[in-house]
Amino acid sequence: MHDQAKRLRERMQQSQPSRQTRLVTVTSGKGGVGKSNFSLNFALALREKGHKAILFDVDLGLANLDVLMGITPKRHLLHLLEKETSVWDILETGPGDLEFIAGGSGFTQILQLDTEKLDILFQKLNSLHGYADTIIFDTGAGISQESLRFMLSSDEVILVTTPEPPAITDAYAVIKMIHSRNPETKVRLVINRATSEQEGRATSEKLAMVAKRFLDMEVSKLGYVMDDQHVTKAVKQQRPYLLAYPQSPASRSIRNLVAEYLGSTAGSTGTPGGFKGFLNKLKGLIQ
Ligand SMILES: Nc1ncnc2c1ncn2[C@@H]1O[C@H](COP(=O)(O)OP(=O)(O)O)[C@@H](O)[C@H]1O
Ligand SMILES: [Mg+2]
Repeated sequence: MHDQAKRLRERMQQSQPSRQTRLVTVTSGKGGVGKSNFSLNFALALREKGHKAILFDVDLGLANLDVLMGITPKRHLLHLLEKETSVWDILETGPGDLEFIAGGSGFTQILQLDTEKLDILFQKLNSLHGYADTIIFDTGAGISQESLRFMLSSDEVILVTTPEPPAITDAYAVIKMIHSRNPETKVRLVINRATSEQEGRATSEKLAMVAKRFLDMEVSKLGYVMDDQHVTKAVKQQRPYLLAYPQSPASRSIRNLVAEYLGSTAGSTGTPGGFKGFLNKLKGLIQ
């Protein structure tokens, strides 16, 4: 208990009220395209640059983030509904000092909580405002009403696809669905498992062009991650590839992507809504 209080004090001291916390949802149309690996290594690469990213698992899938990190979380998000539990109690530390929150259930379950419970959850989560720069939600694939609400409530959506046509088609379906509800939603494309820089660029350009032509929607190109056997090796070792193989093609490419992300985020004018903004938007969508 004493340790916990000390930890809490230290963390509170690190909070900067002026810091705007951005909520980013990582999603895809098709499953298995590499969302969790991307989210994990993206968060780590951001932290390497001194940008405080916290990872949030809201996928109920089999290969969860904790498995990729080789840790067993003691607490998860829904523990916040217990009166005495604070957000600092559920914040786990993984490899590379990455801070991580286990969902404990998928976002479908989270979003099906009644408004009173959602309020408690988000009020507590809001303590992270000013503490983190970016909160990254790793979600499951697919386009249910719940996942759509989650995307529409975040400050931005990172849409992951591989260069394979079925994955691209499904990614386009996600863009179309987002567009039909709110064309202003900020969507950024990541091409995972590109076999060359050329393929990475061409795939995102094609997808962005189709969105522009058929939906008149601006979708930005965040970058690509190389298809790399080191990723599979790292997954088997239950270690993030950025830490296990820092000089591998996948690690190099995600660092480039992070440089791009930090450059563009620094220049963006919009103020992120953080957890409060997220909850307000969510409530608007539920009514
Ligand atoms: N950049 C990559 N290069 C090679 N294989 C990859 C890459 N990214 C993901 N994979 C493979 O795809 C599998 C699924 O990745 P995962 O992140 O769990 O996908 P998702 O979260 O979208 O279901 C991984 O176990 C790994 O074998
Ligand atoms: Mg996953």
